[in-house]
This record gives sequence, C-alpha cells and structure tokens, in this order.
Amino acid sequence: MKTRVEFFIFVYMKDGEFAVELMKWYHGNKRDLPWRKTSDPYSIWISEIILQQTKVDQGMPYYFKFIDNFPNVFELAFASEQKVLKLWQGLGYYSRARNLHYTAKYIVEVLNGKFPKTYDEIIKLKGVGKYTAAAISSFAFNEKKAVVDGNVYRLLSRYFGILEPIDTSAGQKVFNHLADSVLPLKNVNIYNQAIMEFGSLQCKPKNPICGSCPLNFKCYSQKNNTAKNLPIKSKKIKIRERFFNYLVITDGKYMCLEKRISKDIWQNMYQFPMVEKENNTFYPDSLIKNEAVLIKKTYSKHLLTHQRINAVFWHFEVQDIYNYGYTNIVKVDHIEDYPVPKIVENYINEYLVIEV
Ligand code: ADE
Repeated sequence: MKTRVEFFIFVYMKDGEFAVELMKWYHGNKRDLPWRKTSDPYSIWISEIILQQTKVDQGMPYYFKFIDNFPNVFELAFASEQKVLKLWQGLGYYSRARNLHYTAKYIVEVLNGKFPKTYDEIIKLKGVGKYTAAAISSFAFNEKKAVVDGNVYRLLSRYFGILEPIDTSAGQKVFNHLADSVLPLKNVNIYNQAIMEFGSLQCKPKNPICGSCPLNFKCYSQKNNTAKNLPIKSKKIKIRERFFNYLVITDGKYMCLEKRISKDIWQNMYQFPMVEKENNTFYPDSLIKNEAVLIKKTYSKHLLTHQRINAVFWHFEVQDIYNYGYTNIVKVDHIEDYPVPKIVENYINEYLVIEV
C-alpha cells in the first residue's frame, strides 16, 4: 500500500520531473542575491536568520551591515550586545539577534571558532531550527536536506493538493515527508534555493502567476482552482492587546531612558520609562502634579505576530530631570546610540528634536 504522499508523487510526477522543472525555472529567473554567491556557512547563517521573517528587499541592507561589521564569527562573538542589537534595530524579533550573538560566542569558545558542518550538528545551535539547519547544511555543504519554509508549504500544498493544515504537527509531518521525497539526487543546494525562489516569485501567496507557470499542467490547484485557498491553516492567531504608556521626560538636553530587562518582547532594548496598563485609562498624575509641562501626547500602534501594542507617548518638559526617580539619564543627542524597538524609533524620528 502506498502512503497518501507516495500516491501523490506517483500520480503527479515522473522521476525527478518536479525538481528538474524548478531548477530550469530557477536558472532563468533567479535573483542575484549576495548570500547565493558564497558557501561560507557563517554568512549563510546570518542571511537565513535575517530572512526568517523579513522580505529579501528589507533584509538585504541588514545583511550587508552585519557582514561589514562582523565579517566572521569571531568579530560577532567579540562584539557588545548593544552593538549587535543596534545593527538589528528595525528588523524585529530581537531574540534572534541575541541568539545569533550567543551562538557566535558558543562557536568561538566551545567549537574553537569552527562552524559545524553537518545538519545534525548545526541543528544543535541555539536559534537554529529545522529549516535553518537544512538551509545552511544544503547551501554550504550540499547536504541532502529539504528546506521547508512558508514558500515550500505553499507550493507543495497547491501543486500536490495537500489539504492537511500546515500549523499542526501531523500536517507538518506530511509536508516534511513529501519535501524529502521530491528532492533531486544531486545539486540539493541549487534545488533548495530554487523551490523557495519559485514560491516567492511565481507561486506567490496572493496573485500567483499561474498562466505562465512551468508546473501548471500538472498542478492540482490549477486543475481545481484552489490556489487561493491553499495552504490550509487550522488556527487563527489570537492577538493580545497591550497598552504601553511611554514617558518622554526631557529638559531639552537630557532625557530618561531605561533598558527592558524582563523576559518579554524587546528584551535588552531601550525605551523611555514605560507604564503598562490593562487598558487605555492611564494618566501620569505624579508628573502632572510636579513642575513638568505636558508638551504633547502622541498615539501610535504597532502590530507584532501575536500582540498589538497600543502606545501613548507623553512628552514632558521638566526643569530638573533627576527629580523623577529614573537613574538612566542620557544626552538627547546620544539617543541614536541605543537599540530601540521600531515604535520608539519612529517616535524619535518623527517627534524628537535632536541637535547635533
Ligand atoms: N528566504 C529565506 N532564505 C532565502 C534565501 N536563501 N534566498 C532568498 N530568500 C530567502
């Protein structure tokens, strides 16, 4: 008896046809991307961590900044965390930057600076999951491991008509098995780039280009008009509402800044002193009663994967900045040295007058 996945492959493909078509397409359509010109596992690792939740266009300047500042694992390991977070600023998911830094130190201190060479060793690194380990081991060492990212789920589900959800472990098993079964015998490094590139440029989430698609004559979704419904997700993400009140306290020259130390979003990033509330009923009484003058109140929202941050920035001008119990006082014109979350960065860029 064939398993369901084997049946799909049996019905839909001759030997290797899927992989061959993808690699032919890739040859004629691939983008010229810097991390594709190297087999250095360190550079590939950096690029893959940056690209985990970031589009190529947005990720590219970060990749160049990172490789310029930290051309090898030693430079990254010896850097300060503040510098690493600063270079990461704007990308979000700051735990990824902290994990990169941790892992660089681990490679230098425990592995004598040698990047591991196999999937089984690479996956043990902190911050490296199945996808990233498959990407690094195949791109750098041509190991036969299938990458399964969002692009791959989408293409496989549409082409082979896989109706299992992609966000359950049972569904993921089906996709992983299928992804392994359609790997070519050689050039897995090129094939893995090809399948992701195809997902991102041709078999796009919205408006896939089915008319000119080289796989369309055997595509399940083309026959059944289901591209827009696939892949299937079983769960809707629940969004947690949070209410942050930032106290922008300045005497014009200095301002209060604090480090977020708790295990929460944006750990070790900086922010204005902040009061979190359950709803939007905050009022900074203690400041208002003081000699502080409320200059303006600015509202802003920021959406993360599972949270919506509803922020209010309360901008106060004060006489004596040391009067408010905040110990970390910085020069306003030094504020750009500190890694801050996007919502704070936007506020600084839009509203803070920085004289240099
Ligand atoms: N997204 C994730 N990894 C990628 C890669 N190596 N090339 C292009 N896009 C990607």
